[in-house]
Amino acid sequence: MTPLASYTADYPRLVEAAAAAAGLTDPVAFTAGTYAYFLLKSATRGPLVPLQGVLLRDWLTGGRHFYPGTKFGLRLYTAEGVRFARVVAHLDTDYADDAYDFYVVARADYVRLFRLAVRASRERGPGEVPPVMPAGQLEVLRQNTVGYLDRQNLRRIKELGGRAKRGLLLTGPPGNGKTSACRWLKNECLRAGYEHKEVSPDAYQAARRACNPAAEVKDLFAVHRRGVIFFDDMDVALRDRNTVKETDDQAVFLSALDGIEVNEGVVYVFTTNCPLSLIDPAFKRPGRLDLVMHFDPPDAALRRELVGRWHPEVRAGIDAEAAVGETAGFSFAEVEEVKNLLILRHLEAGAWDWAWAMNQFRENRAELAVRDRNVGFAAPSANGHR
Ligand SMILES: Nc1ncnc2c1ncn2[C@@H]1O[C@H](COP(=O)(O)OP(=O)(O)OP(=O)(O)O)[C@@H](O)[C@H]1O
Ligand SMILES: [Mg+2]
Repeated sequence: MTPLASYTADYPRLVEAAAAAAGLTDPVAFTAGTYAYFLLKSATRGPLVPLQGVLLRDWLTGGRHFYPGTKFGLRLYTAEGVRFARVVAHLDTDYADDAYDFYVVARADYVRLFRLAVRASRERGPGEVPPVMPAGQLEVLRQNTVGYLDRQNLRRIKELGGRAKRGLLLTGPPGNGKTSACRWLKNECLRAGYEHKEVSPDAYQAARRACNPAAEVKDLFAVHRRGVIFFDDMDVALRDRNTVKETDDQAVFLSALDGIEVNEGVVYVFTTNCPLSLIDPAFKRPGRLDLVMHFDPPDAALRRELVGRWHPEVRAGIDAEAAVGETAGFSFAEVEEVKNLLILRHLEAGAWDWAWAMNQFRENRAELAVRDRNVGFAAPSANGHR
């Protein structure tokens, strides 16, 4: 049997089996594309149902509302009284592409369900709270990403002969909001209906090792519609070729970045905590990178804003101004860590003890520093014994 023949035989069989299991008459199969998120957001999750007698549960943490929780079987849902099911049939769990993954709904409800998903996608919620940033920086970030992808804006750029492609680099020491900013942006893309894609260093390395690396890497840089592609922690690929010997890797990366024909519009967002001076000048040239945004450790005003976001009970338990003063030089993540220690202590001892949290924070830091050093010392002596 050819793959096509087997596919066309499997598909209707699965649709029928799913409809029978879910109790749907005259089933229509569909994939929800970018509407999936809004469809599931509006739906109430029902039980799992076996598919042709088989139910393979998929354990996972987090995101339960949006994942079916099965590798083989059905998940039932109801949205505004319309029943539908997600059908999942992974043939080989190592190859996600070899999976059947679609929705079924009774034909009588099909249009209603589609309209419901479209409506849900237009109801823009309040969105996520962006990370704390210096005045104006959030607007710059928004303007250069979701703002840039605005249809009118892109049309005008193309009319004037401009490039519908933009590259942003978010830099700064660890824990000052680069990844948090990406997380917020991703949510903004979702709300605006733009495509978004994350390319992890692992995905990049895997593409590099593929049989056809040039094409695979190029694929990572491509979007189908308008959208943002995030490259978080791309340190290796961005480093200066003259100081770090990763020449081959960077050449592929840089040419992929250039070689993309964009139909609609794409924004690349790279993050790194590698200092700007170590970043390959070829990467920094205009056309590849249009804007660099620095995510620096917070000054007192920004720390005050961060502390101002803490739970009222936490704030009532401490002297907020003292907290702002004592965390001078901390990264956002470090200030948050002190808060976490404070809360843990409160749960244990029933009191809000800022001094204890600061102390514990310093102790933990010192301990980590010592451990790092031990690793360094242990290695040569271990070798020496050999
Ligand atoms: N600007 C910010 N506003 C509020 N919270 C922040 C901010 N920056 C960092 N945090 C807190 O610190 C955590 C870690 O920050 P994040 O992952 O964004 O850092 P990063 O800049 O990506 O660091 P790295 O260079 O190590 O990847 C966040 O989950 C958040 O709790
Ligand atoms: Mg990060």
